[in-house]
Amino acid sequence: MAEIGIDIHKASAILQAGNLVAIPTETVYGLAGNALDPVAVTKIFETKNRPSFDPLIVHVAGVDQVARYTREFPEELRKLAVAFWPGPLTLLLPKKDIVPDLVTSGLDTVAVRVPSHPVTSALLQAVDFPLAAPSANPFGYISPTQAVHVQDQLGEKIAYILDGGDCSVGLESTIVGLEHGQLIVYRLGGLSVSAIEEVVGPVLILPQSSSNPKSPGMLKSHYAPRTPVVLGDLDQLMENYRQKGEEFAILSFSKDYDEIGKEKKVVLSPQGDFGEAARNLFSGMRFLDKAGVSVILAEELPEKHLGKAINDRLRRAAAK
Ligand code: TXA
Ligand code: MG
Repeated sequence: MAEIGIDIHKASAILQAGNLVAIPTETVYGLAGNALDPVAVTKIFETKNRPSFDPLIVHVAGVDQVARYTREFPEELRKLAVAFWPGPLTLLLPKKDIVPDLVTSGLDTVAVRVPSHPVTSALLQAVDFPLAAPSANPFGYISPTQAVHVQDQLGEKIAYILDGGDCSVGLESTIVGLEHGQLIVYRLGGLSVSAIEEVVGPVLILPQSSSNPKSPGMLKSHYAPRTPVVLGDLDQLMENYRQKGEEFAILSFSKDYDEIGKEKKVVLSPQGDFGEAARNLFSGMRFLDKAGVSVILAEELPEKHLGKAINDRLRRAAAK
């Protein structure tokens, strides 16, 4: 089993030696390795069982480091960096040769992000290389938002998990790029589109699918628990599954259902707060995945603020 601890020196020594450490970020936990070392990067893909066509995000300590790895930093994207870094925003920028092709799956752009979690900020200051880090879960499963989630699934494969407590955002970063002068959101995430549009005006949200080559990681079925998820009107779904005599659990936005036992339900935010719902989404899905039921019934949130990104994850979890 991996050791769970808060020793930044130990974590940096492991990384320096070319091995992997799980790190806390404000979005989700990452599985980190030296982004400039192809051997370490290969270990990331192997440990996650991740297909090599799915590129990694490179984490740096501050905006001043971006030029080491990128050829240009267009003004529109720079504006977003200034407004939202450190934070749950990833920018796609033209890469320099120093970034191994393995990291970007051969693409000419590299995904870069400055995370805000203080533990990982300190770690990024302590090492003299950037950290490639995908979410620290087996490929296709729900991202981890607590150190124990990482331990549960990758604990046998890595030596150390840096503990930073519960992730404060709980959804992966929002990924933004620029094509022919047009800002494009490639992945909805922990920074809402409305917040982005307040800074740079209207952006395009690209419909994400496995056929979208620009964001190869955005497969239709992703972020999924093992238990099947069915999305729809909860009252109606519950009625249907009762009639079928099938055991179910439920995931609701704010409404509590008294008739359902508490080991079989998650209310994302009793107050209807989108931030709280985002923080609770992945741990809630993990909890229900262990409830021993044959199906998880869930409802979509209103399509605003973080509701958009939460619905994106719910739809992927429900996709076959
Ligand atoms: O919040 C996050 O972004 C977390 C934390 C650990 O930083 N990381 C994360 O990484 O979610 P991951 O590997 O699970 O998702 C990264 C996604 C890829 O699946 C891919 O869709 C996209 O980022 N990506 C990376 N590089 C890209 C590139 N050059 N062009 C297009 N998409 C890229
Ligand atoms: Mg992931």
